[in-house]
Parts: sequence; structure tokens; C-alpha cells
Amino acid sequence: MTSSQLSTKSQAWSALFSEPMSELVQRYTASVGFDQRLWRADIQGSLAHAEMLTAQGIIGAQDLADIRRGMAQITQEIENGAFDWKLALEDVHLNIEARLTQLVGDAGKRLHTGRSRNDQVATDIRLWLRGEIDLLSSLLRELQLTLLEVAERHVEVVLPGFTHLQVAQPVSFAHHLLAYVEMFSRDEQRLQDARRRVNQLPLGSAALAGTTYPLERERVARALGMDGVCANSLDAVSDRDFAIEFTAAASLCMVHVSRLSEELILWMSQNFAFIRIADRFTTGSSIMPQKKNPDVPELARGKTGRVVGHLMALLMLMKGQPLAYNKDNQEDKEPLFDTVDTLRDTLRIFIDMIGGQPNPATGAKEGGITVNPQAMEQAAQKGHATATDLADYLVKKGLPFRDAHETVASAVKSASARGCDLSELPLPALREFHPAIEQDVYEVLSLQGSLNARDTLGGTAPTQVRAQIARHRVRLESAGLP
Ligand code: ARG
Repeated sequence: MTSSQLSTKSQAWSALFSEPMSELVQRYTASVGFDQRLWRADIQGSLAHAEMLTAQGIIGAQDLADIRRGMAQITQEIENGAFDWKLALEDVHLNIEARLTQLVGDAGKRLHTGRSRNDQVATDIRLWLRGEIDLLSSLLRELQLTLLEVAERHVEVVLPGFTHLQVAQPVSFAHHLLAYVEMFSRDEQRLQDARRRVNQLPLGSAALAGTTYPLERERVARALGMDGVCANSLDAVSDRDFAIEFTAAASLCMVHVSRLSEELILWMSQNFAFIRIADRFTTGSSIMPQKKNPDVPELARGKTGRVVGHLMALLMLMKGQPLAYNKDNQEDKEPLFDTVDTLRDTLRIFIDMIGGQPNPATGAKEGGITVNPQAMEQAAQKGHATATDLADYLVKKGLPFRDAHETVASAVKSASARGCDLSELPLPALREFHPAIEQDVYEVLSLQGSLNARDTLGGTAPTQVRAQIARHRVRLESAGLP
């Protein structure tokens, strides 16, 4: 460390320190390399604090004017990339405060009255995260809307529904997509719920015990648009449960994305050929000239592990920490930032990959997934997908369900032996299994018949699917679209 760095450093601390940090320890302890992204929240929090200090008569009106002027200049410098971030000043807070003092003198030194970096950093993360939650929520709504638009065009398209990845029953492709709309809608709700606990003000807790100055914390909370103040100073400066909660919600959202990714990957394999995704989301192979690999959904699936890893990191970071603030907490930032970045990029890419982009000339979206209804339908015609429908048909003719199940199992066995689908067995062959079977059975055994029959709330019948779509549309439109 040079002597000039040392002297900047000793401004941040005090004469108490008799030896400088090594370069390595400085790098090890500094967070400015990553926490600079909190700068806007840091300045916002400082201005609200300074305004309150002035209103309470703790600092003078001239101090406030100076602080505002200095912060305006710092804002410009950071925005223009002209701000000189110094590792020796450890973090975003000390960097901004040191520059402020350089610019406006004593007023800059008064800003930290009644405040500590402990309540400052907790406030900054909360303010920053609140903004990110709002952005992520609007992206989640956009993704739901995108899925809804694709669903609207494919209500009558049938694909095999699977359980255990074995053909189970036919479902509408729209119904399948709407399952993800439900998941992403709950993800959005979870973010909004976490937001209420994120949006509480730590400032005024000072280092850990509160402060001797007559602060008016509610005023600062109002100025920052926060819902309330943290009620216990020890808790306010030390817990990061709000970040953990957010990361848990983000992890669940990524888990949903990874399920969708897995399906997209399966559906676009040659053996399914249910969909295609645009070339801009795929890559070729360096050796196999025919390949188009679904890299984007695969990466999204992989990045889910990364986000869940961040959740584990944050949980372990908090575990066993005694009250109140400990430097461990500085390690909250990188996992949290990377969670936000990963989820934000993933959602943006999925919106585009699924829905495409508006053509500037026509306004119609182009370049989203392409659906192959024939391939889906053909696949649904394999695997005796309407066997349950035949059992239900027999029940309606008076058989107990267990007997009907057994009867149909024999019919399926016979169809398999003939190498055809249950729905393709001729009537005399079907009647061998039960005399109550009549010509009307073929409607029951058809894919559309099977769909139409599932007309209960939440079922896959087109009338139900259209009702789901209408309900989601009203919900998303009333929430305001991005
Ligand atoms: N950079 C620190 C963090 O991220 C700020 C708070 C430091 N407080 C302290 N007492 N050392 O947590």
C-alpha cells in the first residue's frame, strides 16, 4: 500500500491503527469491486438521511445543500464512468462518502451522524432489491402473457399428457402451457410477498443499538417509499432473511423454468418433433454438421443449479452468526446479485424464445416457438391414451370402475398384440371385451372426444381451457402490463 492510499484509508478509520493491511488482505476484505452496483441506492438513502437530519436540527440547511450538490456531482461522475473507485476505501459507502467530503468539505463529514455502515448497507440492499423485484415481477407478467398468447392459438391442439413420461391421457397444448402460467403466477406472488418484508427501513439502527440523536425514522422511510421501519436495531443491521427469502422465491422460479426447459428440449428432439425454437437460441456442433442444439433451454436448466446454490450460500452465511452485524454479511452480495442477474436474463430470453418479437412493420410477433400439431397428435395416438375414456364409458354403462379398468386392460393388451392403438380396434373386436360397447365408443376413444369429456373446473376440455385463458387475461391486464 502506498503512503497516499494509507492516508485515504486512515481517513476512513482512525489513528488507532498502527500498521497497514497487506495488498492481499485489502483485496480480501474489500467489497467495492461488486457493491458499487448499490451506488444509486446508497446516494438515495444518504439524501433521505441528510434531509431528516436537517429537519431535526441535527445538521444545518447549508450542510444539506452542500450534500445535495456533492451527491449530484457524484451521480454524474458515476453515470459517466468518471468516478474513481478506490479499493483502499473498501466499499461503495466509504468511496462515496470520501468523495463527498472531498467535494463539499465538512458537510460531507456530517452526513454519517447517527448512522453506521451497518444500517446503511442493510438499507441499500433493501432499496436495490425492491427495484429488482419490481422489474422481475413485470418480466414474470410478460412471460405469463407470452405463454397465454401461444396458448390462445393452440387450444384445440392435442398432445399426449404424460405421467412417468409414459403416455397417459390426451391434453390440449394450451392447457399444458397454462400449467406454467399458474407456476409463474405463483412465483410473481411470492416475489410480491417477499417485497413487503424487503421494503422496511433499517436506517436509524446505527451500528447495532440505535443512536443518541433524535432521528425521525418514519420520515426517512416515507421519503424512501418504504412500508415501515425495522422495529429492532439489532435485527435490522444483522439479519438477511429478506435476501434469503427472495433467493428462495427466485430458486423456485428457476426450478419452474428448468421444468419448462426440459420439456422444450424433449419436444424439439427429432423423436418428438413437437416444436421448433428459432435458430438464434440454438447452436451447431463443431463435428456433427446436422446438429442444432437447444443450448438456451439447456443453460437455463443448468443455471437453476447455480441459483439454488446461491440460496444455500446465503442460508449458510446466516447460520450461526451471533447478533448483531458481522462481516460475514458482506458475502450476501455476490450470490444475491448473481441470482437477480441470472433470473432477469433468463426471463427476458424466455419471453423472446417462446413469444418472439414484434415485427416493426406489422406489430405481429415473429420468431417464437413453432408448434407442429400433426406430430403432437400422432404421438397422442400412440400409447392408448384414451384407455381411461373407455373405462369411464363402461362405468357409464353400469360396470363398477375396477371391473371396467380390468376389461380395458385386456383390450389394450389385444390392441398392442395387433400392433394398433386401442382407438383403432374394430367394433367386433372391442365388443368381445364387453357387449355394452357400441358404435358411439369411437367418439369416446377419439382425442377430441377425450378432451371434451374433461369438462370440470381445471380440466383440459377446450371450454375449460378458454375459461382459464380469459381469467388469466383479466388478471394480467388488471395488474398492468410492462
Ligand atoms: N461492506 C460492508 C458489507 O457489505 C458494509 C458494512 C461494513 N460494516 C462494518 N462494520 N464493517 O457488509
